[in-house]
Amino acid sequence: MNPITNETILVMDFGGAFKELAARAVRSFGVYSEIRPGSYAIEKIRKFNPIGIILALGENAANYEHLTALDIPILAISNWNNDENDREKIRSFTFETCTASGDYNLDVYIDHQINQIKSVVGNEKILLALSGGVDSSVCAALLSRAVPGQLVCIFVDHGFMRFDEGDRIETAFAGQNLNFVRINAQDRFLSKVAGVADPEKKRKIIGEEFIAVFEEEAKKLGHIPYFAQGTIYADIVESGGEYGAVIKSHHNVGGLPEKLGFNKIVEPLAGLFKDEVRQLGQKLGLPDELTLRQPFPGPGLAIRVTGEITKDRLETVRHADALVTEEIEKFNFAELGLATPSQYFAVITNTRSVGTKGHERTYDYAIVVRAVITDDYMTCTYATIPHELLAHISSRITSEVSGVSRVAYDITSKPPGTIEWE
Ligand code: XMP
Repeated sequence: MNPITNETILVMDFGGAFKELAARAVRSFGVYSEIRPGSYAIEKIRKFNPIGIILALGENAANYEHLTALDIPILAISNWNNDENDREKIRSFTFETCTASGDYNLDVYIDHQINQIKSVVGNEKILLALSGGVDSSVCAALLSRAVPGQLVCIFVDHGFMRFDEGDRIETAFAGQNLNFVRINAQDRFLSKVAGVADPEKKRKIIGEEFIAVFEEEAKKLGHIPYFAQGTIYADIVESGGEYGAVIKSHHNVGGLPEKLGFNKIVEPLAGLFKDEVRQLGQKLGLPDELTLRQPFPGPGLAIRVTGEITKDRLETVRHADALVTEEIEKFNFAELGLATPSQYFAVITNTRSVGTKGHERTYDYAIVVRAVITDDYMTCTYATIPHELLAHISSRITSEVSGVSRVAYDITSKPPGTIEWE
């Protein structure tokens, strides 16, 4: 039985890439859903006791005959276009075939998690690595609601954040009932990556340094028995295993608690899809700036400075990025019938080019503006930006940002490109 509601529909993964979309569609009708691999044992399904099973079938014919012995309604889907027909198929299966009442919603999830967190954590303290991203921010807001005053958030500012970002994150959490510890480790990180040009090496160094800093700071705080992570359901499904979303998960996706020796882990968002996490954050009163923000990579601007990172080049890309963000967010794409970019930023290349400023010859870096349209960040198309806006962004960057001689717009989709340059 599912602990959150007594009506669950199980989506079984027989290779259908649309499994998450199907599970999300079920939830949109007010019924909780979870995903399990096609190999999930019959006894476990019986114990789980779903009111219906949806088979997400892939290209290869799957063997699911054994499931018919369960006496649970089954809907087999092999084609998914994510359109109204698909939604209708799920709706009629949910309400007509499985006679669901449809009484699940995010408030039910919040109440359940708050009770769970209270009963697991008791009067102890709980530690969270807060990055300021959507997942860790919403996790912090939920924990501070459940166990006010017992949550300690460590926010490591590695110096590769965007313009003013550290301060804005700090301000957003100032009103929450939690202990916010900000570590300003900018110089330490910058010296670690000095002279490193290879992107994978940068990622590795920054990841390891993050753990080292976090560990040192956590030690200073004395014994804190619980560790919270903003793991979401997609992380669990993508990491394989049996995809179970439970409060004390054994799926340690991030690897941080293991490295720090924590074994009491709380993952209160482990049952939610990304859009539900954003909605939850809004319900908990977090500002849109945090709940609706675009993805930002863990290593931050370090992988948007191609080649070696210097303090000056980091400052240049930070400034250019702030201008790109400001101009794109101000612009009304919908009015022109254009898709609003999902992710947008500036990259500083390690290519210098000749330019002129006043009567002087310059030899500065080329900045690339990147803006993409995507739902899943696995593929993307480059965004169509009107030339007038591109021209305006270019002229602002070349006149307001020092160290730039040229601005280019990246018109590569993914594949064959990637979203980031490194
Ligand atoms: P790519 O460049 O692989 O990016 O097309 C896909 C999405 O992932 C983000 N990204 C990262 N996120 N650490 C992260 O936390 C990373 O090292 C990293 N690299 C890429 C990228 O911003 C995009 O949203």
